[in-house]
Amino acid sequence: MGRGAAAAAGRMALKRRVGIIFGGKSGEHEVSLQSAKSVYEALDREKYEPLLIGVDKAGVWHLGADASFILNVSNPKLIALNASAPAVVPVEAPGSALSLKDPESGLVRQSVDVFFPLMHGTFGEDGSLQGLLRLLNAPFVGASVLGSSVGMDKDVMKRLLREAGLPVPEFRVVRSPGDDLAAAVRDLGLPLFVKPCNLGSSVGITKVKRLEEVAPAVERALRFDRKAILEQGIAGREIEVAVLGNEEPRASVCGEIVPRHEFYSYEAKYIDEDGALLKIPAEIPAWQSDKIRDLAVAAFRALECEGMGRVDFFLKPDGGALVNEINTLPGFTRISMYPKLWEASGLPYPKLLDRLIELALERHAREGALLRSAEF
Ligand SMILES: Nc1ncnc2c1ncn2[C@@H]1O[C@H](COP(=O)(O)OP(=O)(O)O)[C@@H](O)[C@H]1O
Ligand SMILES: [Mg+2]
Repeated sequence: MGRGAAAAAGRMALKRRVGIIFGGKSGEHEVSLQSAKSVYEALDREKYEPLLIGVDKAGVWHLGADASFILNVSNPKLIALNASAPAVVPVEAPGSALSLKDPESGLVRQSVDVFFPLMHGTFGEDGSLQGLLRLLNAPFVGASVLGSSVGMDKDVMKRLLREAGLPVPEFRVVRSPGDDLAAAVRDLGLPLFVKPCNLGSSVGITKVKRLEEVAPAVERALRFDRKAILEQGIAGREIEVAVLGNEEPRASVCGEIVPRHEFYSYEAKYIDEDGALLKIPAEIPAWQSDKIRDLAVAAFRALECEGMGRVDFFLKPDGGALVNEINTLPGFTRISMYPKLWEASGLPYPKLLDRLIELALERHAREGALLRSAEF
């Protein structure tokens, strides 16, 4: 190696290689591509060497060469992965880094220092991907297996929040359309919301105003999941808070979502460009915002989250706030709520990425130091 090449290698070694994993089999594939593109562009090239690892809709991992890996980037409806990029499989490598290998030849294509999962919804946000990365001993951004899976299951999530003394809407869980729905309606009143327990993006959710609409809504939700949750309908504003940290999580300023539809439905989120308005910061009194921010941190802790999480609330006209849910892998484009909340709190997008990567490495080091068996 010549002197120039050695110097270049030295420089490279200081940079962390960040594997952005995105796409995936969930209904949020396209949104994920947009999140990945934003992170790829914003990562500081002085510190990082970003890699694009796109998972196609069949679940195959592909390694992109550069930003051209994501096709039709400016069109949210046509955005897609270039599937001709080589397929890779992740394998454990000596040390803590992980390698991406060609599944055919077995040749190493790249090593990765830290992963940035940006795969929303099923498999990416529910602990599955996190479990794979843990097995391979790779550091990764965001909640680990437990926080991810708990955050994904609206039933378990709400039981844990309630157990921690945090306010949540009244709810009932049903596993079959034959369950006693009338009793649930009697307890919860109308309107109520029926949702699959493990999904996102408002898919499979129905706002029910009349008794006879409950059974069809439950049947619909049970097509997406084995559990459906029925929740008391809360008339209130939708307030969201971004939380960041591991042992000492911090909350951003509050933001407000103002849906222009009956509720913040799939259409309002992704189809209708003017489906919802984001107000940052939310126009609420300081005492209320302080209370909601404290609740957000408490929810983050109660749900065993790490790294990041967006906690969503209903703010009732009487001033009471109820936790609706946590999103452990919230939308992450530059114009998404989570990064915008941090920007409004004094942490610009590239610095937020730095912090998340630091938190991932800290957690990995901490877990690596734990004893795995009895010591004599
Ligand atoms: N209990 C409820 N009361 C009032 N509105 C609700 C309730 N549950 C859900 N919604 C509406 O439906 C949207 C999606 O529900 P949510 O539980 O956040 O599911 P998802 O995980 O799909 O985002 C919310 O943003 C809100 O507009
Ligand atoms: Mg939601």
